[in-house]
Amino acid sequence: MSWNVYVTREIPRPGIDLLKENCDIVDVNPEDRVLTKEELLENVKGRDGVLCLLTDAIDDEVFRAAEGAKIFANYAVGYDNIDVDAATRHKVMITNTPGVLTDATSDMAWALLFSVARRIVEADRFTREGGFKGWGPMLFLGGDITGKTLGIIGAGRIGAAVALKSKGFRMRVLYADKVRNETLEKELGARQVDMDTLLKESDYVSIHVPLMPETTHLIGDRELDLMKETAYLINTSRGPVVDEKALVEALREHKIAGAGLDVYEEEPKLTPGLVELENVVLAPHLGSATIETRTKMALMAAGNLLAGLRGEMPPNLVNPEVLGKGQR
Ligand code: GLV
Ligand code: GLV
Repeated sequence: MSWNVYVTREIPRPGIDLLKENCDIVDVNPEDRVLTKEELLENVKGRDGVLCLLTDAIDDEVFRAAEGAKIFANYAVGYDNIDVDAATRHKVMITNTPGVLTDATSDMAWALLFSVARRIVEADRFTREGGFKGWGPMLFLGGDITGKTLGIIGAGRIGAAVALKSKGFRMRVLYADKVRNETLEKELGARQVDMDTLLKESDYVSIHVPLMPETTHLIGDRELDLMKETAYLINTSRGPVVDEKALVEALREHKIAGAGLDVYEEEPKLTPGLVELENVVLAPHLGSATIETRTKMALMAAGNLLAGLRGEMPPNLVNPEVLGKGQR
């Protein structure tokens, strides 16, 4: 039990405490910022395991530096920041934190949807700046939500949760996914459609796919053109799923009514022109950012890390092939 682990940035205390109760050495990046590549390479050396974040690019070079490490536990459900094939080659287990953030992230999609449709952020700014001179018949008119069509791209855990939360708003639900989601069909009368149909018919399009080569720029010029001029795009998944330049153009030219974004193509950079637009609400990647959810994620990531160190199968292993055939 003389384990030596590294945590690439401060996470909620209970996760760190759990590691400290079970490991000899738990070093945490003392600074509240992303490590540089050099710092990352230096700090993973000689560790048995690493708890890393979605802002850490974990590639072959990192696994070489971390020679001997058994596991990298990612503090996120998405693990596009990790070269999983390289991990498997180096016999390193990779885990993520699915499930615990499904509600927080799907709530965030709704928060963005409401904010952009009802122009809450613009109106708040206006009110603070003393613009409110009294009720006005034409003041900040937005889009209706109740009874409208919601299009879900990617009906996995988070996408399905967003869809199910539409119940109170009596929405018609469409979804595009490779697989059928019978729960959505039964509970909501949701219809599985192809992407083009979804884009053409939806008043709100909400994206919930993982970032992969097949989903990179899934939404570009052509797709934005298919959307209604009165429709809104919500993205709480990963930035590169949307061609951000094309989106800025579409918003500027009012090809769509608006967008609510929590993620960006090159975080933390924003595509030029985006911040000048009024018809977009911008959040700094806060999908899972609630106290309870982040605490659960910390415990889950720490639990995965400890299981891997003990030689058990971590509950959220994403590369089971690392264990080899017959070893499970
Ligand atoms: C957040 O973006 C996550 O993948 O957990
Ligand atoms: C993430 O948890 C998803 O499957 O949508």
